[in-house]
Amino acid sequence: MSHSVEKHLAVAPAAYDVEIRRFVPGYEEMLREVEGALAEHLDPGGRTHVVDLGAGTGALSAALAARFPTMRLTLVDLDAAMLARAASRLAGVRDRVTLHEGSFADPLPSCDAAVASLALHHVHDRDDKQLAYANVRAALAPGGILVTADAFVPACEAFKVPLMRGWAAHLVSGGDTEAQAYARFAEWAHEDRYYGIDEELGMLRGAGFREVDVRWRRGSNAVLVARRSTA
Ligand SMILES: C[S@@+](CC[C@H](N)C(=O)[O-])C[C@H]1O[C@@H](n2cnc3c(N)ncnc32)[C@H](O)[C@@H]1O
Repeated sequence: MSHSVEKHLAVAPAAYDVEIRRFVPGYEEMLREVEGALAEHLDPGGRTHVVDLGAGTGALSAALAARFPTMRLTLVDLDAAMLARAASRLAGVRDRVTLHEGSFADPLPSCDAAVASLALHHVHDRDDKQLAYANVRAALAPGGILVTADAFVPACEAFKVPLMRGWAAHLVSGGDTEAQAYARFAEWAHEDRYYGIDEELGMLRGAGFREVDVRWRRGSNAVLVARRSTA
């Protein structure tokens, strides 16, 4: 299995960090919310281990490494070119970082938390998504959490249309015409699949997570948390 962000988004890994901010409203704020969730659930001075699923160029891992100086991180991604960017970005903390070229659907290393930013929408099929969540849960220590930041769009047109209109407005503010914005959505939809928050919470519960919550939401983006129970 392999994956190329360059082919999917038509963005070279070197340009990714600029372009993702143009594509996704509130990207920075969303990453800060993931950080905040970890700060609440992990021992800030502990030698915790966090797995970054679909880590890409490592923006989230770099923020976590800076905020939690004793945290160890494993970055999992299918795209070697994206991981190469992450390697240079994380050069200063390389002793705490493992880079793994592979799928988050494969068995993951044991961890205290797993994070995902704009990554799990790559899993199209509902059953596969639930299996991916179960795979993460199996890697988590009891009391460990999954924090996933992504776009979540319900199928129902009444709710979907205004959310997509808001997302399109962000692309237009970055230079697209409205037609170009909707053409991007159509292009991305070949690979990306967004479910509504209630569907995602259902898949998380179906994967065995009994404690789930919506930590933050703004328009089409949200941060969901799921905790592996201790009992
Ligand atoms: C839109 S990028 C997000 C990157 C980064 N997390 C961020 O927030 O900027 C999605 C990433 O998920 C990776 N990806 C897609 N499917 C994957 C899979 N099954 N296993 C691991 N990585 C995957 C892609 O290669 C890509 O780097």
